[in-house]
Amino acid sequence: MNIQQTLSILKPDVTRRNLTGKVNAKIEEAGLRILAQKRLHLSKSQAQQFYAVHAERSFFNDLCEFMCAGPSVVQVLEGENAVARYRDIMGATNPANANPGTIRHEFAESIEANSVHGSDSLENAAIEIGFFFSKIEIVG
Ligand code: CMP
Repeated sequence: MNIQQTLSILKPDVTRRNLTGKVNAKIEEAGLRILAQKRLHLSKSQAQQFYAVHAERSFFNDLCEFMCAGPSVVQVLEGENAVARYRDIMGATNPANANPGTIRHEFAESIEANSVHGSDSLENAAIEIGFFFSKIEIVG
């Protein structure tokens, strides 16, 4: 068994369309447990800090504007190989390339409004979880 935790964000396009429950159903059906969850409205500077790794990319400013345009739901997910498992069920970054059945295929509007974020490595998962949650908020 290789139980991992990963950081998930349900982005503002999900909260705007009242899809939090539908996305959570997909997460739970995939065998991932939601150990922590909170709804928050990122400020521009928080979005810039969270996505700092993309600061040099052409889409950085639009991405940060989008992420602070409405509330998000941030989560800690746990399960077997949770980092890769969640990325599998999220589907490709661009929903046009996402496989049927994935969250982005079912729900995403565009490469920017692509419904969900998931950590891309175990190392980044620990950093991203620490960005939003303290230990006491993560309940196994
Ligand atoms: P996410 O997994 O949250 O990580 C970075 C985000 O940048 C990505 O999802 C996309 O929503 C967003 N993004 C916007 N434009 C692009 C692009 N051209 N290539 C990659 N990511 C993009």
